[in-house]
Amino acid sequence: MGNHTVTHSVILGTGSYVPERVLSNADLEKMVDTSDQWIRERTGISERRVARADEATSHLSLHAANHALEAAGVEPGEIDLIIVTTLTPDTMCPAAACWLQSHIGAHRAAAFDLNAACTGFVYGLQAADAYIRSGMMKKVLLVSADVMTRMTNWEDRGTCVLWGDGAGAVVVGASENGRRGVVDSRVYSDGNGGELILVPGGGSRFAPITADDVHNKEHLLQMKGQETFKTAVRYFLGACKETLERSGLTLDDIDVFIPHQANLRIIEAVAKRLELSMDKVVITINKYGNMSAATIPVALDESVREGKIRSGDNVLMAAFGGGLTWGAALVEWN
Ligand code: ACO
Repeated sequence: MGNHTVTHSVILGTGSYVPERVLSNADLEKMVDTSDQWIRERTGISERRVARADEATSHLSLHAANHALEAAGVEPGEIDLIIVTTLTPDTMCPAAACWLQSHIGAHRAAAFDLNAACTGFVYGLQAADAYIRSGMMKKVLLVSADVMTRMTNWEDRGTCVLWGDGAGAVVVGASENGRRGVVDSRVYSDGNGGELILVPGGGSRFAPITADDVHNKEHLLQMKGQETFKTAVRYFLGACKETLERSGLTLDDIDVFIPHQANLRIIEAVAKRLELSMDKVVITINKYGNMSAATIPVALDESVREGKIRSGDNVLMAAFGGGLTWGAALVEWN
């Protein structure tokens, strides 16, 4: 690799995409025994987006990636590596990242998927950061995208009200202006909690998946909501505190906090325990629901485009999800 002097990686550009179709709480009232009031009070969600039948994860990713590449001023041919973090790839094989590569024409890139469920963006950012800092890759396109409505059990009112579809992307490269970029990131997992958020079918556990398995909805996402809720708050807090401590920063130094958007009550509980003003917390769950891996980069992109994140700002991101997986990343904005 030669005498590379890369010390930090930075986010060169952001992009996002959500499908056009809106599914409101009023629409859900017609599908399951629920109410707009229950959904808003218990989750903070008013509406979410649903992908068209011909839109798979790589198609959502393509729109987000194009916006990020444009913002970064980077051509597809300059990309060395594409990472797509998703739990809903277009196909089991090949990876969504390979489909995206073919749509986008990034002919030089290597491409792979990373599945860390809702924590995908934090895992992906750490991976991109490590590749860039090592000098092994110069430009990484990181996309976090999920079409959660394809895994939704529309008869389970406890989960079907939560999910939405979307994609967020960043282009990661080496810092050239002295900014610290990705200051630190921490990722964790606990496989013993695997049954809390689970899609049993579609992998090698049920192979081949039978009509009975499908009838029993084994191909759809199941979640133990209450247990997940309690664990989420604890792990969120731990990841944020450790990332801050390692970075030598305090919460006063944080300008913008972007938590994974699974439930507004989880976000408020975390902000309260961190003693962080909600003014610094980015909220999108009201309009998009839980888009799994996509929630953080979509919120990041919208915040950048709305001018809420400026050069030099410290942006803390934290997520929790299936695996169990969780983590946090701190970025000094370029
Ligand atoms: N409408 C009306 N009533 C409902 C609905 C609904 N949509 N869903 C559940 N209820 C009822 C239940 O049946 C129950 O009724 P009962 O008391 O008569 O039995 C009551 O409401 C309370 O149900 P709970 O499950 O206890 O509701 P809770 O307040 O825990 O909220 C929720 C459920 C929103 C799922 C919450 O637990 C949650 O957000 N959990 C965490 C989700 C999360 O963080 N996921 C991680 C990321 S996901 C990923 O990685 C892919």
